[in-house]
Amino acid sequence: MYNSKITGLGYYVPENVVTNDDLSKVMETSDEWIQERTGIKERRHVTPVDGETTTSMGVKAAKIAIQRAGIDKNEIDFIVFATLSPDYYFPGPGVLVQRDLDIKTVGALDVRNQCSGFVYGISVADQYIKTGMYKNVLVIGSEIHSKGLDMTTRGRGVSVIFGDGAGAAVVSREEDTSKGILSTHLHSQGEHAEELALLAPGMGGRWVNDIVADNDKDDESYLPVMNGQFVFKNAVVRFSEVIMEGLASNQLQPTDIDMLIPHQANLRISQFIQKKFGLSNDQVFNNIMKYGNTTAASIPIALTEAWEANKIKEGDLVVLAAFGSGFTWGSVVMRW
Ligand code: UT7
Repeated sequence: MYNSKITGLGYYVPENVVTNDDLSKVMETSDEWIQERTGIKERRHVTPVDGETTTSMGVKAAKIAIQRAGIDKNEIDFIVFATLSPDYYFPGPGVLVQRDLDIKTVGALDVRNQCSGFVYGISVADQYIKTGMYKNVLVIGSEIHSKGLDMTTRGRGVSVIFGDGAGAAVVSREEDTSKGILSTHLHSQGEHAEELALLAPGMGGRWVNDIVADNDKDDESYLPVMNGQFVFKNAVVRFSEVIMEGLASNQLQPTDIDMLIPHQANLRISQFIQKKFGLSNDQVFNNIMKYGNTTAASIPIALTEAWEANKIKEGDLVVLAAFGSGFTWGSVVMRW
């Protein structure tokens, strides 16, 4: 068995900042409500002028991560792309990254696990590296939410939360066994699939001719829905469980954590976990204030920012944890 480690990190967010006050001009909401319930002050939205796509943002983040990993792009052996907002229905963005990075014909896998997508992606990379099949795996999480949000009062329970952005990591074979990914744990509970979802029928569920014939401008099925309180209650339980599961499998305690990077779903959820585990402000990294919830991109953006700010040092115990639509959840425990 080989050892695997994150060796390069990068992120990209669109320049266009959308504040809570901007949102209150187009829907009945307020800076006060959004900050009090979620901690979010602003988020980024792509614009028609910047022309970004989920893939193009992912490629920008990936280039930085590859450069920081100190490898040539052609040393990438495999691509994992996590998103709920792909450029196309199919093919997925993984192959578009292979094309746009202009790298050799390596395998490309698309992960459909929403807020847990990056954690799932890291777990996939970790297995491939540990078994010796690959040496360098590129894992990307990228999302464009803004093109699909209902920016009217009807959609305010969802649309104020989500933002656009991308993050990427290179996971590489590591010879030093005192460093690297110690464990990953993944879970799902499909009985709650419809509690946080975009329920537009796919071709696997409905004839496309029927979808076209029924096309109705008031059809809300193309808009995301969320049973916020139910999701919140499940999130705090599952975050706690899966962090403990990861720690316990390595004979570690919450007090051993140097840096927890929770998926940026809601500042209140992060604060709940922080309090429950008795962690200080220095032990938990949050940036939801600036970016909102960027789903699969949230952990790699936060991890990159924490690393850039020197909040993660060699030898630190770093824990990633996510929960989201599916429901899916998971954790990564690693020694930096
Ligand atoms: O990333 C995947 C995981 N996602 C999560 O973990 C999200 C978990 N859920 C949450 O973070 C919270 O449930 C929300 C932030 C989504 C909502 O906060 P809440 O405290 O659960 O509010 P609520 O949905 O119970 O709504 C309370 C009130 C309602 O009005 P009434 O019925 O009390 O009159 C809503 O209509 O707030 C109203 N409301 C808003 N008001 C102003 C809902 N959205 C807004 C808004 N601005 N944007």
